[in-house]
Formats: sequence, structure tokens, C-alpha cells
Amino acid sequence: MTVVTLNQERAGATAGSFASEPAGAILGDMTATLTSPTFVGRTEELARLAAAGERAAAGTPTAVLIGGEAGVGKTRLVGEVVAAARDNGATVLIGGCVELGGEGVPFAPLIEALRGVVQDLNVADPGGGGPALSTTPGPWSEQGRLFELFLGLLERLGEERPAVLVVEDLHWADRSTRDLLAYLVRNLRQGRLLLVLTYRSDELHRRHPLRPFLAELDRGRRVERLELARFGRAEVAAQLAGIQGAPVPADLAERIHARSGGNAFFVEELAAAAADGDLPPSLRDTLLARIELLGEPAQQVLRVAAAAGNRVDHDLLAEVAGLPEAELLAALREAVSAQVLLADAADGTYGFRHALVKEAVYGELLPGERTRLHARYAAALAARDVAGDPGPAAELAWHWYAAHDLERALPAAVAAGLAAERAFAFAEAQRQFERALELWERTGGDGQAEPRVGMDKAELLARAGEAAANSGAAERAVALVRSALAEIDAAAEPLRAAQLTERLAFHLRIVGRPGAFEAYQEAVRLVPPAPSEARARVLAGLGQTLMLRARFAEAAAVCEEAIAVARQVGARVVEGHALNSLGTAIVRLDQVARGLACLEDARRLAAGLGAAKDEARACVNLSDILEDLGRLQESVDVAAEGMEVAGAAGLRRTFGAFLAGNAASSLYNLGRWEEATSLTGAYLELGDDEDLNTVTLRQTRAVLDAGRGDFAAALAHVAAARRLSGDMFIAVQYPPVLSAAEAEVAAWQGRLEEAAAAVAGGLAALQGPLTDLRACMLLALGLRVEADRVALATARHDPDTVADARLVAAELLRWAGGALGGSEVAWKRALLATCEAEWARVQGQDDPGAWLAAVAAWEASGHPYPLAVARWRAAGALLARRGDRARAAGLLRQAHEGAVALGAGPLRGEVERLARLGRVDLGRDATAAAGPEGASPEGDGHAPAAEPPPGAELGLTPRELEVLTLVAEGRSNRQVADALFISPKTASVHVSNILAKLGVAGRVEAAAVAHRLGLTGGRPGP
Ligand SMILES: Nc1ncnc2c1ncn2[C@@H]1O[C@H](COP(=O)(O)OP(=O)(O)O)[C@@H](O)[C@H]1O
Ligand SMILES: [Mg+2]
Repeated sequence: MTVVTLNQERAGATAGSFASEPAGAILGDMTATLTSPTFVGRTEELARLAAAGERAAAGTPTAVLIGGEAGVGKTRLVGEVVAAARDNGATVLIGGCVELGGEGVPFAPLIEALRGVVQDLNVADPGGGGPALSTTPGPWSEQGRLFELFLGLLERLGEERPAVLVVEDLHWADRSTRDLLAYLVRNLRQGRLLLVLTYRSDELHRRHPLRPFLAELDRGRRVERLELARFGRAEVAAQLAGIQGAPVPADLAERIHARSGGNAFFVEELAAAAADGDLPPSLRDTLLARIELLGEPAQQVLRVAAAAGNRVDHDLLAEVAGLPEAELLAALREAVSAQVLLADAADGTYGFRHALVKEAVYGELLPGERTRLHARYAAALAARDVAGDPGPAAELAWHWYAAHDLERALPAAVAAGLAAERAFAFAEAQRQFERALELWERTGGDGQAEPRVGMDKAELLARAGEAAANSGAAERAVALVRSALAEIDAAAEPLRAAQLTERLAFHLRIVGRPGAFEAYQEAVRLVPPAPSEARARVLAGLGQTLMLRARFAEAAAVCEEAIAVARQVGARVVEGHALNSLGTAIVRLDQVARGLACLEDARRLAAGLGAAKDEARACVNLSDILEDLGRLQESVDVAAEGMEVAGAAGLRRTFGAFLAGNAASSLYNLGRWEEATSLTGAYLELGDDEDLNTVTLRQTRAVLDAGRGDFAAALAHVAAARRLSGDMFIAVQYPPVLSAAEAEVAAWQGRLEEAAAAVAGGLAALQGPLTDLRACMLLALGLRVEADRVALATARHDPDTVADARLVAAELLRWAGGALGGSEVAWKRALLATCEAEWARVQGQDDPGAWLAAVAAWEASGHPYPLAVARWRAAGALLARRGDRARAAGLLRQAHEGAVALGAGPLRGEVERLARLGRVDLGRDATAAAGPEGASPEGDGHAPAAEPPPGAELGLTPRELEVLTLVAEGRSNRQVADALFISPKTASVHVSNILAKLGVAGRVEAAAVAHRLGLTGGRPGP
């Protein structure tokens, strides 16, 4: 692949030993080179960079951050890396940040780096362009999409062959560039890519915006850092020898080392000065002294160039310098041959040999001269009509501002803001708009400003607010939109007032602040009744908010109105958005067929319009609802299709993650746990620990890990998901699902009180009806735990706890009846049957019939995990009742098969334990068979003597097992001693040994374990 030939040339001109290359007509006959021809030192740094390069080339994306003071040799070092990479056939992209009076130029280095690549790669249009005005809320910003697409581009580049992306001088970077680079470092997981970043470490004052960026990169531990030190004596001597072509006298090397401090750039400048005579008194004088030796026209050209951005093209320089062409060429030739300026033959631009020279020259400009030069640049650029191009537009705005021409700076700032906005550089857009607002005041207010800017102050404020919201400054957005509203007379301009109020509502919703809902209502009140797109949008916003608040009937009414208006005015995207909310709402009102049809329509509409976000959002809601209806395979299919749409549109990490969470949830319910695990794993890989978009993935993963017995992982996902969704405005189902995972873990671990607390917590956090299976599971888990509590408390003669557990259980059963009763959905019937069977257990009458009903219901619904659980319980109830043993054995074998197939470790363990105690042979492949002799009065003849006794896996001796059984019945040490004819002292020793072996803190917990092991029920009492 031939990539960025242009930049490869440029790299040759800015890095490495380039000075002897011809750089166009300007480059004169040069005798001595200022730039060191031989590369000196940096052995260790080169080795580390080579290692990083190898790691990258082997497929692990790697980032190296090089810091060092100006002139120390960062660019030169990077030049070596780049040359080596090219020799190895790598693609090299190079971009430098632009210094513009401390203001960033939107994406400048990346635009430079990518010039030409995009066409080469023939990047497909991601869709979602055209009419796809974004109707989907905030954390999924357009900028996020851009970042994801850029990431994909780099990954693809790295597929063809190793790629190196160099971004130099990050201390000048604009915020959007910093954000993008941070994103890349966080998210690059594949592709042979080496990212090399440089910055001036001496430039970073305490509040420099690069500091938090560097801190973030450090936190992620994904970057290697190099800090370039100055040269020592020997290196300075070597550098000087390179420059002179022969060793220099030791005393000269010594003096230059002392004076330069070992800064490679100053070594070169001092070497040049020394050749001319004595060393000047200061380093700055060293730079200026060489320039003062040049003719006046050359000096004039340098002053002009110093007021430009990093590089300036010939025509612009000529225009601003105002010199006759012949004189200009002569002056340029002189400056280039003195190696103060470098000419780039490829694009006809000039730049200073080093930014330090530029800064010195700029610093020497007289104030009036400086202002005049900026004004001339501004005038020249203005004539070029650069308003649409974010880089030049920013430059123009900066020149007018630096020229103190506030009248012109104002519209230029607005134009630069608009250009930045179009380039998705929202932070820069916000900065420009806010600058414009400041200028608005300074130039005398509305009468003056409005005609020049082409918009009034309210609109400027609104734009600033939108840009702020898009750059993640939602709080600022709220303030700006409020100011915009204050500028408007709602009576005179109800439409604008309504639109702004809708934006306010939207931003408030995104920051999770109160008042969003009221603001939507206010917007609806304000918007003129005549059909308009604005009216449709405002209604759709209110409808969505109502839907998210689970006020489904109201949501449906408002959405219907939004749809009607949208259809009248042909606002298709808004129509789709409202259809989506409507469908989601009315499914919850049991209008299933119609709701699904609405969602299908919304999806088709969005797809037809190329509105990828809306299409993905429709797939999110549709797959969610299909899952709730138990149409699991369809749910997986829709989610997978949505993932494809999202992936192609740069939404893989956002909507894609939500869709993957939905797909995984349905796979979990289908019993395809391995697929669910690898899918969630793959998508979790894409985000980091702070990524809000991983919430659904973690939620599904928590439930999955609880079922698989990876308890620590399950609880970690619960904690992370809770933390992340803390201030997110999200579906009402989240808290109960997370609590269900937590309760399941606690239940398997026999921590009954914690399990009960988790259930209570999940229900207390509920903000709407229970619709999700995993959330409803909370009720069954709650009943299961209360039944266990009853059993344990009964054994311990603790009537208070028994009564309490029964009260709680009755409440849970009532809740289950309300949430699940009377439904056509198979899993709801099955879950209700499970709850009823657990209720019988709560009553102390474990009922095989109730469990068999649950088994039949789960068989009908096709959810293998709860089915296996019900079979296990049914077998247990049959065995306890001395019921149909063959039936019990059959159920237990099926439960075992199911648990093994799922990978449901804890359930499998319980099934095997029950099989041992009940002396049921689980079959040849099972790891366990019958229990110890005498464990059950009715032998079935299969019991192999080799089978370990229950508790053996815990390392308990038979005697300890007996003691534990008694402890579990609530007996004191003395009672245990009496029962076993041992001394109380011996009994107490046994008890402490047991506690230690079980890893529990006290008798109560030990009792819980015993109970769970089935030790309490199966053994005859002493
Ligand atoms: N290792 C080196 N060997 C020889 N010359 C060097 C070395 N490092 C820097 N220089 C020279 O010093 C000057 C300043 O180096 P540069 O890489 O531009 O500094 P920085 O990018 O850190 O500001 C350049 O002319 C460069 O060629
Ligand atoms: Mg440099």
C-alpha cells in the first residue's frame, strides 16, 4: 500500500538527517550543515523503542510517550524510529500539533497524518450521514463515532503491515486531539500499530491541559514513557565532531557543553556561533546573533514567518511580507541556506528549523509590528475564504484576535466554531463560541454584533451549549442553554423557546439532574400547536422520558401525538424515534403484537434513512422485548443484526455493547452459556473499567458468573455495574438484575441473611414493573432463601426467625402473583410455579407435586437453567417424602445433565450432593454416585463402598461430620458432648476444627453450610 507519500517526504524534512536533501528551488548551495549529520547517543532509548516496535509488529498495539525539553532531541529520535520502521516496510503516518498562541487547531496533527490515507483505504461511508440528525442521547456522541471509525482505520492499516503513527508536540494539541489519542491508547487492542507521542516537558506548567492527559495514560499503564535527558560531555563532543566532520578541541567541546547544558539544539547553534567568533552571552542571543548576520530582507521574512502558524506557504508569506518576488526569493534563499528556515519541497511551505528559533524571533517583534503582521495574515487568509476548513478557520480567528481587531475576530470565531463543529471537534467549537460570546460583549452588544455574525446572541449561546454538550461538558451546556432562554421572549417566539427548552430538558436528562421531565413538559406547553418538526420532536422527547420512567400509558399517548405530527410535516427521523418509544411502551401495556409492529416500523424507517443510531436503538429495544416475551432466538438474531449495523457505523463500543449485552442475556436464557460468555468477553475487552457502555454486558455477566459459580467475578461485575450506572438515566430493570446476581451468589454460598438482604435491596430499588426474567428471578430467589431460613431457624429452635421468614416470603409470593400471574408468556407461568413450590418449602411442606408442575412449565418455556433447578428440587422433594425413587432418580439425572451442559457449577454440586445422600446413581459419566452406607434407610443396591462420605470434600472426618450435624441442629457444645459421649472440651475442639475447615466464622454459618450440604435432613438424629 502506498500511504501518504506526501507525509513521508515531510517527515524527511522535519526529522532525521534531511538538511542535505534538495528542498525545491529555494535550497541554495550549502556548504556546512548545522544539523548534526551523525546521530549521537540514545542507545538505551533506541533499544526500548526498537523493543516497542517489535512488540507492535508482533500484534500488540503499543504506545510510547517521549518527553523532554525543547531542543533536547525528541524529533531527531523519532526520526530514527521512523527510518527504521520504513526500512522494515511499515506504514508511517506523521502529524505535528500546531502552535497558535496557545490555542489548539482542531485535530490538526491527525488531519495531517491522515492526509491521503483515507482515499487509499477506501473507507466505506459509515451510513448515518445525510438526514441522520442525532435523536439519540448523549454519551454516544458523534465524536465517539468518529473516534471509533478512526480506531478501526488504524486497526485496518495495521492489518496490511505494521504501522507507525507519530504525533509530535502534544503540549500544543487541541483538546479533541488529546481526547482522540487517549481514546486510541485505551482502546487499541489489535493491529500492528506503534503510537509515538512527543511533548515538551519543560512547557507543562501546573495547570497545563496535557497534565491530566498524561496522568490518564499513566493510570491505564498502557504506555511506555521515555524522558530524554540532555547530552553529557562525551555526547556533546561526539555531536560537535559530527558537525565539524572532525574531532573538536577539548576546551571548545567543554565550553559548548557548559553553555548549552547538553541541549542538542543549542550545541548546534553554539557550534555555528563559535565558527563565527566568540560565543554570545546568552542562548537567546546565540539564536538571534546568527539571524542578525543575515541581510535585512531575510530578517524581515523571518519576522513575517514567526507570526504565522507552524508552517506557512509561499504565497501567503509573499502576500504578508509584501516584498517584490525577486527580493523575497533571495531573502528566503538566504534564510534557508543559513538553516534558520527549512523549505518543504513537497508542499511548498516553510517552517523554522526549530520552534525555539521561531519563538525567539516572535519574542523580538515590537508590539505594533506583531499586531500589524497578524492583521495582514488575517486579511490575506480572509480573502482565501477559509471559513469552511477547521484548521485555517481557527488560524484566521486567531490572527484577528491577536491583531486586536475584535470586530472581525467575532465573526471569525463564530465561523471557526462552526467549522470545528462540522469536524466533530466539539471542544474547539465550544471554545470558539465562548470566545465569540466574550467578543460580543466587548464589541458593544447586539446592535453591533448581530448583523456581522449572522445570528443573534441566543443562537450563539445555544450553539455554544450544544458544542459543550457534545464535548462532554453537559453541566456547562445546561448553563449556556439557560442563558439562551433568558435572551428570548417566549411570548414573542414560542417556537424557539420550546426548542431551547427541549435542549435544556435533554441536557438535564444526560447529566441526570432533576427538572428534565418538567422541562420536557414545559417545552410541550410552549411549542405552538400547529404541526411542525419542532412540535413533533418536543413530543417525542417527552414520550421517551415518560417511557423510560415506566409511565407507559402516558408515554403511549404522547408518542402517538408525536407520530401524527411528524407524519404531517414529513419529519421521518422523529417519527421513527417516537415509534420506537411507542412500541416499547405499549408492549408493557400488553399490546404485544402492535408494539412489536411499531418497533419493526421504527427499525425499517431508520434503516431506510441511514440513521444508524436510530436503527441500533430500535434493535436494542426490540431484542430486549423479544427476550422478555421468551422469543429468545429471535432476540439473539435481532441483537446480532443490530450489532452489525452498529459496527459499520462506528457504534460498536456504544450501541454495539448494549446489543451484545442483550444478545448475551438471551443466550444465557437459552442455556448457551459458553456463547454468552465469549460474546460478553469480547465486548468487555473493547471498553475499559470506566466505560458506561459496558453496563448491560456486566449485568448479564454477573448473572452468568453467578450461575457458573465464578462468584468473585460475578460480584465484581455487580459492583462495577452499580458504580457505572450510578448517575446514568437507565432502564428500571438494572438494579433488580444486579441484586438477583448478588442474591444467587449468596444463596449458593449459604449466606442466607446476605441473600435475603440482596433480594430486599433489589426490590426496593425497583422503579417500575418487573419485566425481565433475570429481574423477576429475584422473587424466586427470595422465596428460596426464605425457605432455607425457615429450615435453618427451625433446626435451631428460633421461632422469631421462622416467623419473619414466612412474613417476607408471603410478601414475595404476593409480588410474584402480581408480576407474573395471568400472563400468556410461558416463562412467567413457569417462574410463578417455581415461586409457589418454594412457598410450600417455606411452609415446611416441600411438595413434589408443586415442583413437578414447575418442571413441566419450564419444559414448555425452554429455559434450561431454571428447568434444571426445578428438577433438582423436585427430586429432593420426592426423596424427602420417600416418594417415587425411580422418578426422583430420573429427574436428578436430567438435572445433572442440564447443569453439566450449562456449566452451572454450583447447581451441579448440589445435584451431586443430593444424589450421594439419596444414593442415586447419576450414571457412568457423573463424577459422583451414591452416598455413604447408612445415609439413607432405603439402599438402592448401587452404593459403591469407595464413594467418599458427604463432607469429605471439605476435609471433615466422620466424627466431625457428626458434630457438625448436631451443631446444625442448634445444639450447644454440652449437648453435642452428651449426645456423642465425649467431654464438652473435646466437643469444643471438634467445633473449632470444623469452623476452621469450613472457613466460617461461627456456628451459625457452619450450620448454614451443613444445611446446604444436606447434612441436617438425611441423617437420623442421635
Ligand atoms: N541524538 C542526536 N544526535 C545528533 N543530533 C541530535 C540528536 N538529538 C538532537 N539532535 C539535533 O538537535 C537539534 C534539536 O533536536 P530536536 O530533535 O529537534 O529536538 P526536540 O524535538 O526535542 O525539540 C536538531 O537539529 C537535531 O538534529
Ligand atoms: Mg521537536
